[in-house]
Amino acid sequence: MTEQLRVAVVGAGRMGSDHITRLRDRMKNVRVTAVIDIDEAKAQAAIEGIDGAQVFTDFTEALESGEVDAVMVATPGFLHEQVLLPALTKGFKVFCEKPLTPDSESAWRIVEAEESIGRKLVQVGFMRRFDEGYRRIRAAVRSGEHGELLALDCEHINPEVPDSYTGRNLIDDTVVHEFDIVRYLTGEEVSTVQVRTGKNSSAAKEGLVDPAQILMDTDGGVRVSVNTHVTSGYGYAVSTRASFETRHLEEGVDQVTPGFEERFVDAYDTEIQEWIDDCLAGELNGPDAWDGYAAAACCEAGLRAIAEPGTSVRVELNEKPELYR
Ligand SMILES: NC(=O)c1ccc[n+]([C@@H]2O[C@H](COP(=O)([O-])OP(=O)(O)OC[C@H]3O[C@@H](n4cnc5c(N)ncnc54)[C@H](O)[C@@H]3O)[C@@H](O)[C@H]2O)c1
Repeated sequence: MTEQLRVAVVGAGRMGSDHITRLRDRMKNVRVTAVIDIDEAKAQAAIEGIDGAQVFTDFTEALESGEVDAVMVATPGFLHEQVLLPALTKGFKVFCEKPLTPDSESAWRIVEAEESIGRKLVQVGFMRRFDEGYRRIRAAVRSGEHGELLALDCEHINPEVPDSYTGRNLIDDTVVHEFDIVRYLTGEEVSTVQVRTGKNSSAAKEGLVDPAQILMDTDGGVRVSVNTHVTSGYGYAVSTRASFETRHLEEGVDQVTPGFEERFVDAYDTEIQEWIDDCLAGELNGPDAWDGYAAAACCEAGLRAIAEPGTSVRVELNEKPELYR
């Protein structure tokens, strides 16, 4: 019989309950054995239909239950570190929804923790890397079949955002996915970030720049633009056009869905199944703690750039440790 991975899910909110349903209904060789949420009723609702799953309000108790092999973290980003560090120290493999942590200083502590353990134990939830179209572009970059990749032009459109959404969310929650996918597609680090503003939509709450254009350069010289429009009113649309020397490849153009869950449902499924398979095989291959750290550093540059539209801000990165090379 194939081995089953026993997973504890921390946080049974929007993303956590979506992942629990995915693990229960669509993933192979996995069993949810624990759901942890400070809101016990949410955790209870999330385990419905899962034989043998237990509810906890304290995740350390779940880790000590003897019924857990790996952990999935789906609490808000500022709470990730307090789960990650103890879980890593105890040797658990972890899938951590993005962001790894909310800033590069705390993300670096996760990198250092893995370095001292000497193994990669964390995968960060950058699901676009598991989308077929992005994988096609990445394969073309690697093979060089269309010459060098010269530029990426991306679009990120949301139907609406909550009233609490600010410029910080635009960078940390929205453009963070582009920071990661640009790093993934090019295989290079983002070196500068700039934000351009212009005529603002009347649908945007006061103080929110919408639409915005985020310009980046990579350290290999690829030019990147990301057009965001988060109060479009009509749907969710994420696309990328990759300009190679002899071909242009497109991903997601003309795809409009109600939200991100529908747009990336296959990518989420592939992401989680590959994580399960990698956990069982003993080695993680998805986006790692360095990727989480680098994305946090890009976000910090993005936040400075959005505060000073038109200014090109350098992304500051520590030296990459051997473990991630
Ligand atoms: N990859 C993606 O596309 C994507 C999309 C949306 C959200 N996310 C990420 O997923 C994470 C969760 O976001 P969400 O929208 O599901 O949030 P949410 O607010 O819907 O859910 C968070 C849950 O965590 C629980 N919680 C809070 N403190 C806790 C604690 N100390 N211990 C246990 N549980 C606790 C809350 O009760 C809630 O049920 C965030 O990091 C977010 O950025 C990723």
